[in-house]
Amino acid sequence: MRIVSGIQPTGNLHLGNYLGAIRNWVRMQDELEEGAECLFFLADLHAISMPHEPAALHRATLEMVAALVACGIDPDRSILFNQAQVPAHAELQWLLNGTARMGWLNRMTQFKDKSGKNREGASAALFTYPVLQAADVLLYQTTHVPVGEDQKQHLELARDIAQKFNNDFASEEAPVFTLPDPITPPEAARIMSLREGSKKMSKSDPSDMARINLTDDSETIVKKIKKAKTDPEPLPSDSNGLVGRPEALNLVSIYGALSGETVDAVLARFGGQGFGVFKPALADLMVESIAPITARFRDLLEDREALDAILAKGAARARERAVPTLDAAYRALGLVRG
Ligand code: TYM
Repeated sequence: MRIVSGIQPTGNLHLGNYLGAIRNWVRMQDELEEGAECLFFLADLHAISMPHEPAALHRATLEMVAALVACGIDPDRSILFNQAQVPAHAELQWLLNGTARMGWLNRMTQFKDKSGKNREGASAALFTYPVLQAADVLLYQTTHVPVGEDQKQHLELARDIAQKFNNDFASEEAPVFTLPDPITPPEAARIMSLREGSKKMSKSDPSDMARINLTDDSETIVKKIKKAKTDPEPLPSDSNGLVGRPEALNLVSIYGALSGETVDAVLARFGGQGFGVFKPALADLMVESIAPITARFRDLLEDREALDAILAKGAARARERAVPTLDAAYRALGLVRG
């Protein structure tokens, strides 16, 4: 079993990243079987697909390492690194560009969302972004990829690319790539914006009130929950009553993801109550869950040398593991390398 996943270092880690992905990374790391391995990386090469400020990317990358360690990723047990220090990711992407089809990339909803109306002005990197993501996982013979719901389409594409490459350039007995399976935590697959229940919670939302950052202090969390959009109805007694109430569903789902309960179990307790009761309970639970992470994050940020050392060690281990598959891909394509 090999587990691989990534996160873009574009600003603050938020509750959606934590509940949708990172908490699952930590769980998988902590429950790992003998002989299995986890690789977690900062997708800094992906981050340059959108307009960015170099100094901010540099800072965000180090902050994200600190945040991941604060959330429970142990750099001794897991391999924690950034793509930019493992050139095999970019190399394999180029090789896979020969296999990925334009039609496949044209169907990716993330490209449509992020390029918006200005498709002609989008970077080529934004278009080929999913091919780099495929390289990230295929490079390591990955079996499992813990991600939120929004990344599932990219993982399907990685499987399509692997399958076509294996068919075109390898034999059935000796495939070059393993087909990876996405793993999505059901109770927190999609955490939505606090301002609009139909939009996912996102780092790029211009309103900071729309998300809970893992660096928010208690006061800010209480304020954001208090201001979160809701409707005037009290909470229903089971999940059927949340149909057509996306904001209420989101807040109850967040509560359940934090407390480890199903939506129905949360409603069994809070059904019939208004948000005047539910919101303070949610804010308390959230503060309690996030405060230890925030404290550790602040300490880690003080030690720049330690953060550099974590990334250097992780990259060396990742580079080692990338060699066999990258070599096999070059060979399969007939490329001469001495
Ligand atoms: P990114 O950086 O946008 O998000 C990191 C992880 O957090 C999950 N996530 C969410 N889950 C639930 N609700 C939300 N509102 C929410 N927002 C984000 C994402 O699903 C993701 O698991 N392309 C990827 C990074 C990447 C990657 C990879 C992931 C690059 N290569 C290879 C897996 C494997 C991305 O931009 O995630």
